[in-house]
Amino acid sequence: MIKADLIKEISRLKKEKNAIILAHNYQIPDIQDIADIVGDSLKLSQEASKLDAKIIVLSGVHFMAESAKILSPEKKVLIPSMNAGCPMAEMINVEKLREFKAQHKGAPVICYVNSSAEVKAESDICCTSSNALKIVKGLKEDKILFIPDRNLGDYISKQVPEKEVISYNGFCVTHNRIRMEEIDEAFEKHKGALLLAHPECDPEVVKRADFVGSTTEIINYAKSSSEKVFIIGTEIGVMHKLENDNRGTGKEFYLLSDSLVCSNMKQNKLEDIYTVLRDETNEIFVDEEIRLKAKKSLDRMLELS
Ligand code: 13P
Ligand code: SF4
Repeated sequence: MIKADLIKEISRLKKEKNAIILAHNYQIPDIQDIADIVGDSLKLSQEASKLDAKIIVLSGVHFMAESAKILSPEKKVLIPSMNAGCPMAEMINVEKLREFKAQHKGAPVICYVNSSAEVKAESDICCTSSNALKIVKGLKEDKILFIPDRNLGDYISKQVPEKEVISYNGFCVTHNRIRMEEIDEAFEKHKGALLLAHPECDPEVVKRADFVGSTTEIINYAKSSSEKVFIIGTEIGVMHKLENDNRGTGKEFYLLSDSLVCSNMKQNKLEDIYTVLRDETNEIFVDEEIRLKAKKSLDRMLELS
C-alpha cells in the first residue's frame, strides 16, 4: 500500500475501533505525524492512565507498551513490532535485583521505567528521566538504590550530595556510543552552539552539556531558548519535532553523533501500525499479580510527578 493509503486506512481503523496511537519522541517521523500523542516516557505513562479509548497502539519499545497495560488493564494495548525491546531494560531481571537489594539491605529501590513489569513489581517506586530528581528528593531515606541506568543514577546523585544514590550497572547502548572526540568536533564545527544532552549519556558527555533533560525537556528547552545553534545529544528521533517546532526561526540543530540511532525504536513502521490495528495482533499481556505490584510503583511515581 502506498503511504497516503496507509495513513487513510489507519485513520479509518482508529475511528472504527476507538483506538489511540501514542508514540515516543524517538519514533520515525511518519509515525510521529500520524500519532494522536507524541511524548517522552512520562507523558506516555500519564496519557495511558487517563485515556478514553478501547485500544492503545503504543509505538515505542516494549516496556512502554507494558507500562500502558499496567496502568490501563481494561484496554487492549498493541505494539507495532514485537522486536522493539530495550537493551537497557534487559540488563536487569528480578534475580539480579534481589541480589543487588541483598547487598544494600533496607534501601528503597527507584526503578527507571526502562525496565520490565517484573522488575517494577520488585521495586518501591518508578521514575523517568524527567522526574527522577524529584522522586529521589521526595523519598525520606538517605540511601537509595537506583536501577538500571548507571548514567541517570550518576547524574541525579551529583545533584543530591546529601543522599547516597547507589546505581546498578546498566546503560543505554545508544547513548553510550557517543565518543568524546565527537563532542570536540561538533563544537569546533558549530562554534557557540549549545549542547543539549539526555541524562542516559555517559557522565563525561553530561559534564560538557549546557542543558540535560528528557527528550521532551530537550525539545521544550530548544523552543524557548533565544540561542540559535544546538548540538543534540540524544536519539535522532527528536530531530523531527525540533525542526518542526522551530521552522522559520533560523534555529539550527545538529545531531551530536551519527550513531545516535536506536535500532529498537526504529523497528516500528507505519505498515506495522496498520497491521496491528487491523488484526489486533501484538497484544501486550501482564500477569495480574505482577501488574498490581508494578502499578503501585508507577502510581507512586505519577502521584509525585
Ligand atoms: P525519555 O523520553 O523519557 O527521555 O526517554 C528516553 C529513552 O531512552 C526511552 O527509551
Ligand atoms: Fe533503550 Fe536506549 Fe533505545 Fe531508549 S534509546 S529504547 S534506553 S536502547
